[in-house]
Amino acid sequence: MKKLADFQLRSQAAYQEAYRYSVDNPTEFWAEIAATFQWQQPWKNVLKHDWTTPSTEWFVEGKLNITENCLDRHVAEHPDKEALIWEPNDPNDTVQRYTYKSLLEAVSRFANGLKSQGIKKGDRVCIYMPMVPELTIAVLACARIGAVHSVVFAGFSSAALAARINDAGCVLLVTADGAFRGDKKIPLKSIADEAIAQCDTIKKCIVFQRTFQTVEWNNRKDIWWHDFIDGLSDKCAPTLMDAEDPLFILYTSGSTGKPKGMVHSCGGYMVYTAYTFMNVFQYQPEDIYWCTADIGWITGHSYMVYGPLACGATSVHFEGVPSYPKWNRFWEICEKHKVTQFYTAPTAIRSLAKHPTKLIEDYDLSSLKVLGSVGEPINDEAWNWYNTNIGKEIVPIVDTWWQTETGGVLISSLAGVTPQKPTYATQPLPGIQVALLDQNGKPIIEKEAEGILTINYPWPGIARTIYGDHQRYKEVYFSAYNGRYFPGDGALRDKEGNYRITGRVDDVVIVSGHNLGTAPIENALNEHPAVVESAVVGYPHSIKGNALMAYVILYDSTEVVPSLVDEIRATVASQIGPIAKPDRVLFVSGLPKTRSGKIMRRILRKLAAGENDQLGDISTLLNPAVVEEIIQSLSKE
Ligand code: WTA
Repeated sequence: MKKLADFQLRSQAAYQEAYRYSVDNPTEFWAEIAATFQWQQPWKNVLKHDWTTPSTEWFVEGKLNITENCLDRHVAEHPDKEALIWEPNDPNDTVQRYTYKSLLEAVSRFANGLKSQGIKKGDRVCIYMPMVPELTIAVLACARIGAVHSVVFAGFSSAALAARINDAGCVLLVTADGAFRGDKKIPLKSIADEAIAQCDTIKKCIVFQRTFQTVEWNNRKDIWWHDFIDGLSDKCAPTLMDAEDPLFILYTSGSTGKPKGMVHSCGGYMVYTAYTFMNVFQYQPEDIYWCTADIGWITGHSYMVYGPLACGATSVHFEGVPSYPKWNRFWEICEKHKVTQFYTAPTAIRSLAKHPTKLIEDYDLSSLKVLGSVGEPINDEAWNWYNTNIGKEIVPIVDTWWQTETGGVLISSLAGVTPQKPTYATQPLPGIQVALLDQNGKPIIEKEAEGILTINYPWPGIARTIYGDHQRYKEVYFSAYNGRYFPGDGALRDKEGNYRITGRVDDVVIVSGHNLGTAPIENALNEHPAVVESAVVGYPHSIKGNALMAYVILYDSTEVVPSLVDEIRATVASQIGPIAKPDRVLFVSGLPKTRSGKIMRRILRKLAAGENDQLGDISTLLNPAVVEEIIQSLSKE
């Protein structure tokens, strides 16, 4: 029987052949790969698919448990191989190591704890935790018993956490007393308490003790993690799951105020993350792979937990930040653990590039074989800095384009195997059929072109729905261009067929690699009692990629006190989280609008970017004078 490793593409020709085959025979292509996993019951159909409904099912009626594939089968083969190397926030704290065996035991014990609380298949469990190994353990324990995990990034506010818990109807919350982030201590438990006060569905709150700070305690609800697992068996039989059963919900921003709970399946997601992990990073069994993301984002789910574990890999998980205690921390960790694959975000690269290269030169980075980038377009300067200073001009760079919705990478080079091109994600992976469309939704035939990126054919990792709102799933992703998945990004294609992602074509702004919808931020701004109306746009920023500018209309503009801007920004932090705070706030008396009352964000974007000479014709606006007024205010900013 073939193994997954037999599907590793090691030459440009092998990639081309696999790509061709995946287009000509998509179901055979994926079935052969899926057959390398452990299934408790074979599937009946490889794919059932209808993009009008829309519905996509892969490996229909196949039965499995993803944790058996991520843990048990590796324990059988190499129990003592390290699965996780955990690097704490403070370099003087102890590194923790989990072998496949000890990880399975920890997962099973926590899974037994969940069972003892009556958590069963299909129940939703919210996880709001710092980047400690227990976060991974909680995630996998849910998967072990078929509970659907919903991880919420620990930087979100109590209001954002409550909204996500309520949307999914989570019955249990796993959190920690606090989180260390550089020299800061974040009071997670008290944020969680505030959230739970607004959530009727949460029955119990499991609290991992990380910072040992004082917390409020509710005996009826709260249970310490260590008490929760005390005396429980480290064996827990995996719950049999249908390939299409939901594995997790992960929220992402959209063009309206409400976050979208993307639902991923057990079978297809597993096959897709493992296959793409192995190929994009050219993973080898002895590698030490490090992705610097947080498990609270899709990159963490797919390429820190499920993808690497499904391949039996060893991963570094880092609790801290690149600047603590000094800006050399990443390189110190690379040297210390002899990291072979290093996967990070352009925003981190740009921040690192602001610091002297001396901070790198002290470290031996010769173990590095692959560098990766994810989350936003990587600009030339950042790419070159990464290539020169970290890759020493010999290490391949993979620029991986994908989304929370896609489950795994769709467009990327394969490290050292297919050609890379600075600032280009390059070519679609096998199984991914891309079409570039013009303004009218017609496919562009010419190779060299710019247009809207769409995907024509389903792949196993695609999110199956938005939790509780299938209609919105249909509208957002499948209604703009009939019969195609619309990711919301624009792209440029060169004559070799390489894609360069040019950015969002909707009202989502990527700030420091975080997806932020402008609508939820506007809603938050409007919560402030002094605010009548607001409009938020993104503008280019040298480190964050994009920054946010808020144009705000006040009820009474004579009331502008210096603290108002801080107050308004704090409102956004409390409604969403500090990551969504606008960088600039400008008070205006009106917003440029069309005659039908639609805010002209295009004009606001140009103004925020200082491109006053590129506004185009503004004479058709309802209120052209307001543009001149904004220009005046900006010149005094
Ligand atoms: C953007 C992150 C350019 C894109 C995995 C996408 C990128 C959104 C890249 C999804 C890249 C992600 N080049 N843009 N390599 N990777 N993006 O859901 O706009 O947090 O639609 O998933 O990030 O962000 P999300």
